Amino acid sequence: MVGCGGGDGDEDGDSQSSLIECPADSADQQARGAQVIETRCNSCHAPNTGMQGGYDFTDAAVVRENAEKMMSEVDAGEMPAPPSPALEKSAVDDLRVYLSCL
Ligand code: HEC
Repeated sequence: MVGCGGGDGDEDGDSQSSLIECPADSADQQARGAQVIETRCNSCHAPNTGMQGGYDFTDAAVVRENAEKMMSEVDAGEMPAPPSPALEKSAVDDLRVYLSCL
């Protein structure tokens, strides 16, 4: 599952470590990460889009509670679900920073 230039810290098994330590001075990246959720996740995970899996990621509290799970689904290649294209590496990085800084 590890492609070229993959991130560090990836481990197999039931990883508890999809999140990282919040990087300093990452406000811009956090803002981009929040956009990733809006544009790439909430097309399925919002009240008006069926709340797939029962999740409303327009709700900050829901995102905070599920940050780890959200990131591990992305790392596992499970989300965003088809037919959505996989997130590009930069979007994955931005999302990870955002979720790690909540
Ligand atoms: C095309 C629709 C779609 C998109 C886009 C999408 N999801 Fe999902 N998601 C689903 C469906 C359907 C389920 C419930 C079935 C399943 O678990 O596969 C789900 C379930 C989940 C779950 C629960 C998994 C579990 O095992 O309980 C998480 C967490 C999740 N999505 C996160 C995300 C994140 C983060 C994104 C954006 C990067 C995203 N999803 C984008 C359709 C989508």
